[in-house]
Amino acid sequence: MRVITTIREIMNARAEWSVSQQVGFVPTMGYLHEGHLTLARQARRENDVLITSIYVNPAQFGPREDLNTYPRDLPRDLRLLEEEGVDVVFVPASEEMYPAGFVTYVDPTGALAEQAEGASRPGHFRGVATVVLKLFQIVRPHRAYFGQKDGQQVAVIARMVRDFNLPAQLRILPTVREADGLAMSSRNAYLLGEDRIAARVLYKALQAGRAAFEANPGERASLAAKAIIDMVQAEPRARLDYVEIRDTHDFLLKETLAAPALLLIAAHVGPARLIDNFLLREDGTWDTGIIATSQD
Ligand code: PAF
Repeated sequence: MRVITTIREIMNARAEWSVSQQVGFVPTMGYLHEGHLTLARQARRENDVLITSIYVNPAQFGPREDLNTYPRDLPRDLRLLEEEGVDVVFVPASEEMYPAGFVTYVDPTGALAEQAEGASRPGHFRGVATVVLKLFQIVRPHRAYFGQKDGQQVAVIARMVRDFNLPAQLRILPTVREADGLAMSSRNAYLLGEDRIAARVLYKALQAGRAAFEANPGERASLAAKAIIDMVQAEPRARLDYVEIRDTHDFLLKETLAAPALLLIAAHVGPARLIDNFLLREDGTWDTGIIATSQD
């Protein structure tokens, strides 16, 4: 496995592979967990060459967010990626990604980028879209892998791929969950003791939302939102940021309980701000993620 830190070197490495070789790409911010490794495994199976990146992108953090404390453990990450058969890991420094004089950003707009997570974290999706476009330009993947856990991020990136006619195919894999349903996230490292136990409320609340959805088809969407809110409010360690039920086509708030829909939740538990979602597809099937087993 090659660890590359400069754009010039990774572009040279990229040019070494023949045009017929399929390149898979898993961009990450490191502090890897089973969710990332599931993406890497799938990418390994589907491509000839597997590139991952580890870069905590400052542009997607707000001024009062956790950029400085975001968990990092590069030696462990590299070990895990090596075990998954990754060919190249790109680990750039910020001077490499945003050199002096950098001024050009991708600024997604509209409900998709400005509501829900976009409203809570102004500028977040501008930072995500900018770094993902830049990484795609550097790596030029045939396929890029993301987790459904960041459901709105996935939708923003998919929109950017369409808007800019990017050649990468997006592969979105289900959220990987701990045994109690908590969605795997690098930020779960902030959860200790009682906070860790309390954090399962996000999953329980989404389950309650799904149950309300299924019990009241065609009724007001606020019925399912209320079921989610009630569950979170019953957990004293959790502080709700938002619960929203949005249409997956236009990302507008749903008025009635009908597919397709994304049930989105963000809440603070102790020092961690956590997000999660359940996806109800057009065909009426749910993607609620998968509980990781010990073999994973
Ligand atoms: O999901 C993440 O880890 C990040 O938002 C991404 C896509 C690597 C961009 O920094």
